[in-house]
Parts: sequence; C-alpha cells; structure tokens
Amino acid sequence: MGKINVIGLGYIGLPTALILASHGADVIGTDYNVELVNKLGNRQLTFDEEGLEEIFGQAVEKGIKFTREYISTDTYIVCVPTPYDKNNKKINPEYLISAINSIMKVCSKGAIIVIESTVSPGTIDRHIRSVIAENGFEIGEDIHLVHAPERIIPGNMINELKYNSRTIGTDNKEIGEKIRLLYSSFCEGEIILTDIRTAEMTKVVENTYRDINIAFANELAKICRSDNMDVYEIIRIANMHPRVNVLQPGPGVGGHCISVDPWFLVGDYPGLANIILAARKINDSMPEFVLNRIHNIMKENDIKEVEKVGLYGLTYKEDVDDLRNSPTLQLLENMKRHLASGIKVYDPLIKRSIVDNQYFNFDQFLNDVDIIVILISHTHIKENMDKIKNKIIFDTKNICNFEGVYKL
Ligand SMILES: NC(=O)c1ccc[n+]([C@@H]2O[C@H](COP(=O)([O-])OP(=O)(O)OC[C@H]3O[C@@H](n4cnc5c(N)ncnc54)[C@H](O)[C@@H]3O)[C@@H](O)[C@H]2O)c1
Repeated sequence: MGKINVIGLGYIGLPTALILASHGADVIGTDYNVELVNKLGNRQLTFDEEGLEEIFGQAVEKGIKFTREYISTDTYIVCVPTPYDKNNKKINPEYLISAINSIMKVCSKGAIIVIESTVSPGTIDRHIRSVIAENGFEIGEDIHLVHAPERIIPGNMINELKYNSRTIGTDNKEIGEKIRLLYSSFCEGEIILTDIRTAEMTKVVENTYRDINIAFANELAKICRSDNMDVYEIIRIANMHPRVNVLQPGPGVGGHCISVDPWFLVGDYPGLANIILAARKINDSMPEFVLNRIHNIMKENDIKEVEKVGLYGLTYKEDVDDLRNSPTLQLLENMKRHLASGIKVYDPLIKRSIVDNQYFNFDQFLNDVDIIVILISHTHIKENMDKIKNKIIFDTKNICNFEGVYKL
C-alpha cells in the first residue's frame, strides 16, 4: 500500500488522518478549504478534542502533510459531508460525487476508495458506481469501492477510534482484508467484513436507533409534564427492571449524525419509516417545548422581559465545541420565527461571536439574567453550581439538585 490520501479534514477526516499517520502510515490529508489546510500546515488544530493535540504532534513527526490537491496514489479515504435535502429528506451526495470525480482524475489503476462518510443504503449503487462508470473506469478492475462508516463520538474520539468495533463493506473480500489490515494498525476493536449495502444500512440503523430511544424519553417528559409527574424518578425506577433501559430526556437532538441520518430512511422509504419519522418530529419539537416552559416559568415568577433569561450552552453536546444544529440554535431559530429577541446566551467553549446577545464572561452573564436555562451539561457548569444557586434555574439536563429547580 502506498500513500494514503484522506479527503475531507473535518471532525472525522482529521482524527482519522492523524491516527493513521501516528501509527506509521504515509498520510496526505486533502481538503478544499484553504484556510483549514493552512492552519493545519502551521501545526494549529481546527477544533478542540481531548487527545487530538498529542496525536497531531506524533503525526507531524511521522511526516503527515496537508494540501488542497488530490494526490496520485492507490488508497483514498473519503470523509466529506453527506447532508440531507431539507425538502425531500433524501441524502445529498454532491460532496461525495465531487470527491470521487476528483479522485478519478489522479488515482492509479486498481486504487481503493474507502468511503467513511455516512450514506443512506443504496447510495453507492445509485450515485457512485454510475459516476465511476461514466468516467470510463471499471469497478473491481480500475477502482475498488469500500464503505467503512465511522462511529466515533465527539468528546471521546481518540478513545473510540482505538476501541470501537468497525464495519467494512466491500464487493471483494480480498480488498476488504487489505483495508481491515490498514484500520487494524490503530483499531483494537473487532473489524467486521460485509457487503457495501449492509454496511451502509447498519450505520444509518445505529443512529436511527439512538434517535428513536431519545424520542421515547422526550415523549415521556412531555406526558409527565402535562400531568405533573416526575419523569426522572419514573425513568430511574423503570430502569431497575432488568430488561428496561430508558434514556434521559433533553432539550432536543443536534449534531451531524443522529439528527440527520434517520431522515435518509424517511426520504427513501416513505410510508414504511413511520416510527422513525415520528421520532424525528418529537426530537425536533423539543426546542419549542423548552421555549414554552421558559414562557411559563417567566409568568410564574412575574418576569416580563425575555432579556432577563439566559441560555447556558450553545453546542450540541457537552464538553465539545461543535455547534452544528444544536438544540440552542434551533431554539433561537424558533424565537426568531415568533419575532422574539433579546434572550441572552453563554457557552464557555465558544469563544467567537455566533448569535446576538452572546456573552464571553460567565460572571457578567449571570449578573445580567434572573433565569438561567441549562441546555448543555458542560463540566464547567457542574463545577460552578454554587454561582447559579441564587438564580431561577430551568435545568433541561437534570444536573442540578437545588430546591425549586424547574425541570423539563
Ligand atoms: N461529526 C461526527 O461526529 C460524525 C460521526 C460519524 C460519522 N460522521 C460522518 O462523517 C462525514 C464527515 O463529517 P464531518 O463531521 O467530518 O464533516 P465536516 O464538515 O466536519 O468535514 C468535512 C470536510 O470535508 C471538506 N470537503 C467537502 N467536500 C470536499 C471535497 N470535494 N474535497 C475535499 N474536501 C472536501 C470540507 O471542507 C470539510 O473540512 C459525514 O458523512 C458525517 O455524517 C460524522
């Protein structure tokens, strides 16, 4: 195996490129974002993640390079975005097709293209094989396709890259074994070989399973709120049943996976994906539910100005700086739709200005609000509980045990 060209150096591509290089592979990382490539070239990380700095140093020592160009080689790992079309809910394979076209301009004969990006089942058959054929390449001869979806979670990426089990889908077992060997240079988890469509579907099923289970907890929260029952106590007791494991409710589902991938199934299997669609709708309704709760809590406390309310947390998950599609951003979008503005926002992990009325100093933020709405359970807030105890607290994450705290 020659050089490995990792295409797309975002949340998935960068750690993958770094861990491969730090374990001795000859890696070139390619991204069409000039700024990002320059930053990486200057040894600056593009996002915060525990342990990333360390493998970055090791990868640089082993000679990893970053560029905007696709390089001529025999192995590509593609980690570009795969969003869904907001109208028809189907996958938008544009980035993937563009990356594959660029690879075909430079790859050597017999090259292996590993697609790590999450795709809906049948995407490689429907969109990728035809693009390759149109370029005059024969799959299985000139190019080999592999789908190796990624499972890692921001906040614990390096650990999960090492210990998660992985799935490798191929047309050809020999090619699968080659790629298994490559991943086993750093992955100690079990690596399962299967066909491409099974690998595609498995990844989407995993995230859909998570979405449905979160939706169940969120629906319970709404039912319990409507009839004055304590959802957390009910879930705690129910989970003592040996075969029950209800998740915790929350203010919504964000990020780039769980809130996206189930839509692929809804878009491709309308009429069949019913629970999946209902779960998506429930989770998407949570920011509005939180907004209503804020409104009621304001009324109960005779607070009339929304300027007196502070949202804590802007990211989609605790202790990461990834904002994509976060419940807080969804909530602020909903407020805009209601023509409401003025609510204050603070997130200790976000150092740049993202939204209106955003604070960068926690004490100042606390000083200016009467109600604090906890939307993310960053370690920071857990360590600063005594600072907020005199506020009216609406805790959507169930991390605060003071008397009189409002919950979902
Ligand atoms: N973020 C996660 O937690 C996570 C987890 C598992 C799987 N995934 C999947 O991994 C894939 C990548 O997600 P991400 O979060 O890393 O995305 P990202 O947006 O963080 O990174 C994608 C990168 O690809 C680059 N890019 C786009 N098109 C390109 C092209 N044609 N050529 C070169 N570079 C290109 C972009 O500039 C960007 O830097 C998606 O399919 C996603 O669903 C993400």
